[in-house]
Amino acid sequence: MTPLLSRRGFVALSGSFHAVAFATRAIAAASNKGQSGLVTLSLEASESSTLIGGQQALLQTFNGIVPGPALHARPGDTVQIDFHNSLGEPTNLHFHGLHIPPTGAADNSFRIVPDGESFAYDFTLPHSHSGGTFWIHPHVHQSAARQVSRGLAMPLIIHGELDEIPEIQSAQDFLLVLQDFNLSPDGLPIEPSNMERMTGREGSLITVSGQLNPTIPIPQDGWVRLRLINASSSRFYRLQMEEHTLYKIASDGGALPQPQAMDELLLVPGERAELMIQGSRPPGAYRLLNLPYDRGGTGMMGARGNGSAAAASSTLLRLAYDGKASQLVSLPSRLVSIDLLPPPSRIRTFTLGQGMGSMQRGMSFTINGRSFDHRRIDTQVKLNDIEDWDFVNLMSMDHPMHIHTNPFQVIGPDGAPIPEWKDVVLVPARSRVRVRSAFRDFAGLAMYHCHILDHEDMGMMGIVQFKD
Ligand code: C2O
Ligand code: CU
Ligand code: CU
Repeated sequence: MTPLLSRRGFVALSGSFHAVAFATRAIAAASNKGQSGLVTLSLEASESSTLIGGQQALLQTFNGIVPGPALHARPGDTVQIDFHNSLGEPTNLHFHGLHIPPTGAADNSFRIVPDGESFAYDFTLPHSHSGGTFWIHPHVHQSAARQVSRGLAMPLIIHGELDEIPEIQSAQDFLLVLQDFNLSPDGLPIEPSNMERMTGREGSLITVSGQLNPTIPIPQDGWVRLRLINASSSRFYRLQMEEHTLYKIASDGGALPQPQAMDELLLVPGERAELMIQGSRPPGAYRLLNLPYDRGGTGMMGARGNGSAAAASSTLLRLAYDGKASQLVSLPSRLVSIDLLPPPSRIRTFTLGQGMGSMQRGMSFTINGRSFDHRRIDTQVKLNDIEDWDFVNLMSMDHPMHIHTNPFQVIGPDGAPIPEWKDVVLVPARSRVRVRSAFRDFAGLAMYHCHILDHEDMGMMGIVQFKD
């Protein structure tokens, strides 16, 4: 264990608890859907003046709020979203991490909803779908970074096995959507420069479920459960809780086989994690810190990438001791079992790089030397085949790579798959990462891309066809 930071941030319990109410309401509201197996939502994307981090801003919102409302469902449920686009520009919905068809009215990122039009998203979650923390965001090529960075993101919680474990249930559940905004003093979003787009835009205002530095209560000796979603377009979060161990119980695609104790957690764009924290310290308030992280730069024209933004730590929220747990609960050593994927029938290589693009379009990002083209199928895999995909990063900046429709297992240094379902994997600068997937159930076209959304918009995306 690396030494934990000293507790400099001891504060009186004066903070506002309305962030807590917000997070709790978001969680509680949807659990009271009926037993019908049908989850319906009427959802409008529009530009609205809304409160973000305590200030008024003109953002792109789902149903007028940032982040959008949390949707809750169970495996086997049918989800129907009556979506209307009032944004003033084309948009759509992508169901990040869900194992549902990439076609029709389901997770069809190719379908664009023009301004002023509606679309009825409609899909059924497989009964075998794992529970977990997922999310919804727009996916229009060349607008994804702008729309997500202006607020369009909403959680989608699928309740599953993990939620039935009594020790986990004993913890209060908080849904924490991490977003960053770059706003003018009068609350208007500032568009990034070309250089900022190249490294991936970051905003100086960091919010947690729309709040600035909220306070979360924890009973002494009791537990809280944090469901984290990195819904920022580029920012990485390196999280550390002062004087507290983080117990990771779930990642992108749901529960881990056992709780994993850690001092810090790196959460890259698109990633999710669920953490348990125990109120095991003297009563007080402790900070959840976002530590510096350098994700590299283009190395062009002497640019240092986001070096300056990465230099300082900040506080994301405060954990404030409040009351005492009625009984001492310890985490179970086993959570949910995960079958390891067998060896692959094929290995493919995806090399991440950059190209000069055309004169007007400027810099581009590439996979295997090519920028995204919506008319080109880059990769064909046979349905239900197991493959290893090697992401090879030749650049001096990190790329978090994401694959739609099917989660994967990362291959560890020993050559064996790690028992954890992921859909985003960090491929650090000048390195190689291998993932294994079993492209199950759904034929059709889907995308894989860098989840630094500016990179996706600049071409670091390809199309995979799952063939029957
Ligand atoms: Cu969260 Cu294709 O993205
Ligand atoms: Cu996705
Ligand atoms: Cu990238």
